[in-house]
Amino acid sequence: MKVSITVEVNGQKETRQVDGSKTLLDFLRDELDLTGAKEGCNEGECGGCVVLLDGQAVNSCLVLAAEADGRRVTTIEGIGSSEKLHPLQQAFLDQHAVQCGFCTPGMILSALSLLNQNPDPSEEDIRQALSGNLCRCTGYRQIIDAVMQAAPLCRGGAR
Ligand code: FES
Ligand code: FES
Repeated sequence: MKVSITVEVNGQKETRQVDGSKTLLDFLRDELDLTGAKEGCNEGECGGCVVLLDGQAVNSCLVLAAEADGRRVTTIEGIGSSEKLHPLQQAFLDQHAVQCGFCTPGMILSALSLLNQNPDPSEEDIRQALSGNLCRCTGYRQIIDAVMQAAPLCRGGAR
């Protein structure tokens, strides 16, 4: 059954008719062409699909698009641009925390959710916040270092 939803995505209201069983991940990728969120496991295990829903990190493969009706979604496309990278994006580059890049959007959004709630996280806080995000390439050290680098720059300005 189709339902009408209006979701604020990266600051822009989007209204669509969607199948009631469509996930937020498929809505973003298929309907809005926002392909930064990745489909890895499709069952809440890998974190490749993480986006912010009202500022909180969620696995978008486990959220129905209909559940996002009337709410605010932020994807990796909404936090920076190639001309002006978000401090987390710049830090991931500086710290060599990106290899294949598959996990990176989810990592950055999980980190952003943490920094929104805890602007001065310890290394343990960061490890905990990223525990649902899997990376097959980097070994995590560089990712932790990137979040530590970006944290002071995000204070007061993270979305
Ligand atoms: S695709 Fe959603 S957690 Fe893996
Ligand atoms: S950079 Fe390849 S999975 Fe993380």
